[in-house]
Amino acid sequence: AKEGASDPSSLAFRQPEHTIADTHRVAAGHQAQVLIRWGDGVAVDAPAFDVFAQSAAAQDRQFGYNNDFVAFMPLPVGSLASEHGLLCVNHEYTNAELMFPGLTLKDKTEKLCREQVDVEIAAHGHSVIEVRKNGQSWQVVAASPFARRLSALTTEFQMSGPAAGHDRLKTKADPSGRTVIGTLNNCAGGVTPWGTVLIAEENFDTYFSGDPKKTPESVNHIRLGIKGKSRYAWSRFHDRFDIEKEPNEPNRFGWVVEFDPYDPTSVPVKRTALGRFKHEAATCVTLADGRVVVYSGDDEMFEYLYRFVSRDPIDRKNRRANVGLLDHGTLSVARFDKDGTMTWLPLVWGQGKLTAANGFASQADVLIDARRAADLVGATPMDRPEDVETNPANGRVYVMLTNNSQRKPEQVNGANPRADNRHGHVLELTPPGAGKGRIGRHDAERFRWEILFLAGQRADGATYHPATDKYGAWLSAPDNCTFDNRGRLWISTDQGSNQRKNAIPDGMYACDVDGPGRSLVKFFYGVPRDAEMCGPAFTPDNRTLFVAVQHPGEDKDSTFDRPSTRWPDFRPDLPPRPAIVAITKDDGGPVGS
Ligand code: FEO
Ligand code: CA
Ligand code: CA
Ligand code: CA
Repeated sequence: AKEGASDPSSLAFRQPEHTIADTHRVAAGHQAQVLIRWGDGVAVDAPAFDVFAQSAAAQDRQFGYNNDFVAFMPLPVGSLASEHGLLCVNHEYTNAELMFPGLTLKDKTEKLCREQVDVEIAAHGHSVIEVRKNGQSWQVVAASPFARRLSALTTEFQMSGPAAGHDRLKTKADPSGRTVIGTLNNCAGGVTPWGTVLIAEENFDTYFSGDPKKTPESVNHIRLGIKGKSRYAWSRFHDRFDIEKEPNEPNRFGWVVEFDPYDPTSVPVKRTALGRFKHEAATCVTLADGRVVVYSGDDEMFEYLYRFVSRDPIDRKNRRANVGLLDHGTLSVARFDKDGTMTWLPLVWGQGKLTAANGFASQADVLIDARRAADLVGATPMDRPEDVETNPANGRVYVMLTNNSQRKPEQVNGANPRADNRHGHVLELTPPGAGKGRIGRHDAERFRWEILFLAGQRADGATYHPATDKYGAWLSAPDNCTFDNRGRLWISTDQGSNQRKNAIPDGMYACDVDGPGRSLVKFFYGVPRDAEMCGPAFTPDNRTLFVAVQHPGEDKDSTFDRPSTRWPDFRPDLPPRPAIVAITKDDGGPVGS
């Protein structure tokens, strides 16, 4: 479409003001309702939230901090119910300077007491709540039998797959190498075709202190970013976060965790066959023969894109028979070539360079040191792979590459074409046979790739749709994504501290991926000041979009006592609180229609 022509996008909503503000805002004709906030009750016996009398025991029953991934799981299981279900929410990390009075960002690791540290640990993990729509409004169901917290303080996780029980996973507290307390830095995730939830352990390195050189795992720890001083005070009170005391504890994190939200007594499991790295997410697509493919990015500059293909097909009649399906299969890593093809390189012990000569004694070593294995097979270093999702409408796979300010001109390649990539880009992968209404062969060795768009403003070398200035909006730092039932791409953004520099809000953006509106991005919802946007999840009928507002008020000068915003309560005695927001359309139609 030419400038001045009518809007080529199929997304007809009127965009809200594209500026930073203290509160959130949504496209005209929509409502944005705060559903649950940090500290609100989750477990049946959760005490009322008192920000000035916090305890670890209370936080362990309450909604955790920094909500990220959101899954809407219909009730009953397997249905397409859109007005009743479970919301499964990750709690990625904590901002002590916004949670407790009297702290600054600089001194928080020194000043935190044991109870505050344990509140932080309990605020990590995951929440399951039951939710119901009454008219246009969503409510958390009180005293739900499904309500549940998974925390980093008290919840027991099992390890499974080829690395479970390996010597490198054993600690003093767990000589079996199979039982771990907690999950850390759960960023995004996915839903399996049999109705379990996958949650991805991302920046787990940030919790560990100690000198890696004083451990037998120094190459591994350094490659994963454990370099001495933690951003957290946890190792002051818990030996397991000190690698000089427990050198193997970090090897028990960095996995994809599977759990069944429909069974509140189920033990969550870390599935080692999917490899260990900084998993941003884990999203599934089912092959024609019933086998399952899981895509996962490793979100760090110059890290890789991975794919797991299960050995066995799904049992569609008995969902419980799929326990363990993700323990057997092949993990691969992506190489992108200039000619527009990409190749999936298997990470299989004994093949090529993945042998004892290079320090891999078994498949367990390949999985624990997946990054090093990926280096050896020649994977392509990417600009921070965040969410990766398959579009059910066209079978193509969309990869959010959030940014990479460290890429030098001599390091650019076709799939990562910009040096100093401050705004990121979106890649589109096409498996053989994919197309309108066809999911394609996601187990194939070779796909084709192209760039959907380079983000940023026109001046940043973005691939700007000609109608963007008139009908759209620019975005920076794509992070999570999802699709509506028409196959349109919805992207949440996380600019971090660049949000202030770029002077545009993080939020929800959407674009067509086919037709004349392809890659014309529109702005749909803006987060409050200094937050990022996470967790987009539509109900099956698309009439509700759940989003997660993470770390409102996070800035170097913003504290509990002087926060940059007090969203969502705007009470002088409350700091900002991360929260889940339910977005609906006033006329009851699909969101964004
Ligand atoms: Fe936790 Fe890569 O965002
Ligand atoms: Ca993310
Ligand atoms: Ca997603
Ligand atoms: Ca993020």
